[in-house]
Amino acid sequence: MTSSELTSSEQPSSEQPSSEQRLPLVLAVCGASAQVLALRSLQLLLEAGEAVDLIISRGAFEVWRAELGLLLPVAPAEQERLLRERCGTNAGTLRCYRWNDQAAAPASGSYRTRGMLILPASMGTVGRVAAGVATDLIERCADVHLKEARPLVIAPREMPWNLIHLRNLTTLAEAGARIAPPIPAWYHQPESLGDMVDFLVARILDLFGYELGELRRWQGPIGSAQRPLASPQRP
Ligand SMILES: Cc1cc2nc3c(=O)[nH]c(=O)nc-3n(C[C@H](O)[C@H](O)[C@H](O)COP(=O)(O)O)c2cc1C
Repeated sequence: MTSSELTSSEQPSSEQPSSEQRLPLVLAVCGASAQVLALRSLQLLLEAGEAVDLIISRGAFEVWRAELGLLLPVAPAEQERLLRERCGTNAGTLRCYRWNDQAAAPASGSYRTRGMLILPASMGTVGRVAAGVATDLIERCADVHLKEARPLVIAPREMPWNLIHLRNLTTLAEAGARIAPPIPAWYHQPESLGDMVDFLVARILDLFGYELGELRRWQGPIGSAQRPLASPQRP
């Protein structure tokens, strides 16, 4: 049967996510600067009804406190409660995992995901994944995504990069990861840090095919002269 022979109820609808789209995204958060990008990504994904498997590294707890003034609980259930409260939504599916729970479902290649995003990625985690060393759940999941040839997007945050960082990132790119550093652009005419955060997050999630937020795509000099719509409430 061709698609033209399907009845209207059988036609694929743009409103109905495909089974591939309903798979969870593994969102891994390392102890690098820019935790706000992880929090905003989580908020946008949940608001859109998506499923997120969240792993926050041990090193990230200190950075959440320093940057967002947030004392993250270690227990997954407590983490879920606090993050949902902070994101202000009950939509979507959120599962939090302890950084050292190497027996968790996403540690196995048999567990299906839409892909994995490490945002932000620390140079420590980048180095360990590039070396094939898995000391925690984030590193194990990244290793699994590479071996299963599933989408793995790494958003490294460090400045400047030394030669070791550059070599490790090259190794990961050669192994199949996409390296997407959270580098801002100005062609969307940001008026605030919030605009910048939203652009970076939308641009990175766009790599998985998510259409979230107000990502202004470059349409040439004339299209770029328009201002984006008012920003929604941020966590
Ligand atoms: C406030 C703060 C900011 C940090 N920013 C970065 C950073 O931008 N990039 C980085 O590679 N490490 C950064 N670090 C150091 C990492 O947190 C540290 O190397 C940690 O062990 C990384 O652990 P993880 O790879 O398991 O997340 C920062 C640490 C603190 C306390």
